[in-house]
Amino acid sequence: MNKDNLKKIEEIIESFFFSEDDLNKKVITAANEAIKNGGKRLRPLIMFETYKAVAGAEYNEGIIAPFLAAIEMIHTFSLIHDDLPAMDNDRLRRGKPTTWVSHGEDMAILAGDMLSVQAFEIISEKMQDIEDVVILKRMSKALYTLARATGGFGMIGGQCVDVEYCGKQMSEDVMRYTYALKTGALLQASFVIGGILAGANDEETEMLKKAGSYIGEAFQIRDDYLDIVADEKELGKPTHSDEKNEKTTYVNIVGIDESLRRVESLSADAKKCLKEVRGNMNSIFEIIDMMVNRTS
Ligand code: IPE
Ligand code: IPE
Ligand code: MG
Ligand code: MG
Ligand code: MG
Repeated sequence: MNKDNLKKIEEIIESFFFSEDDLNKKVITAANEAIKNGGKRLRPLIMFETYKAVAGAEYNEGIIAPFLAAIEMIHTFSLIHDDLPAMDNDRLRRGKPTTWVSHGEDMAILAGDMLSVQAFEIISEKMQDIEDVVILKRMSKALYTLARATGGFGMIGGQCVDVEYCGKQMSEDVMRYTYALKTGALLQASFVIGGILAGANDEETEMLKKAGSYIGEAFQIRDDYLDIVADEKELGKPTHSDEKNEKTTYVNIVGIDESLRRVESLSADAKKCLKEVRGNMNSIFEIIDMMVNRTS
């Protein structure tokens, strides 16, 4: 993985933090801390590499920057709420106490809410400075894509089914729907937004969508596998959380071997789609390999 890209992404994310010096500082601090706590930054990395590959010489960091920070804000919001006692009830995230453990449930709810809105605030703020109508149109499409991937027909909708089915048997169809939304939607949006902002055509956008949906499913299957076999310290979050919450996962339906085979074939399918998109996709292939073989 390209360390310079990761460093750039960290700097960009930090440049969009809000300051912590007013009466509202409890919520701002909780939100900033949750993002600062690290994480692999996979969604902005995918978005950035897709943008760079498709944009070529048209690369313009000012346009992509708020979207890189925004997707990490939305993702962090999803994790803060996912860990709450009313949801997965977990106490460890990214190797640190979860937001509700260190800042209280009230601040964790508000910090998640804040990040979900801050994401759209920073993008729409930037859009006000853009004169070029073509770029403005791409940004508004990308903004819509992020909103759709976050809301009731995206991550939040998937989390709804996930918690509703705790303790109940899930059919394979329902499980795939849940994976596609709770995890797939934001990963897919990372590919698609990178492409849209760089001027990908409709066929290319379709290929990015498909690749994103394969990677989303593969990523959640790997996550469920790690929940069973990983080392908690290395993983940075509790293992056996799914068992504790009586979740149906791919691994407990088809077993470990078939799950790992499925992860492999989904990542190969994703790479095939990406080959149909212009630009050099090697860096994205590297990120995919890292994602599907990850141990944390
Ligand atoms: C964890 O995502 C939540 C899932 C969607 C499975 P990541 O594994 O990308 O979490 P961080 O950002 O690296 O902590
Ligand atoms: C993640 O599913 C989905 C989110 C939208 C956060 P999990 O509940 O399996 O994620 P982890 O294992 O807690 O990171
Ligand atoms: Mg969950
Ligand atoms: Mg969880
Ligand atoms: Mg999990």
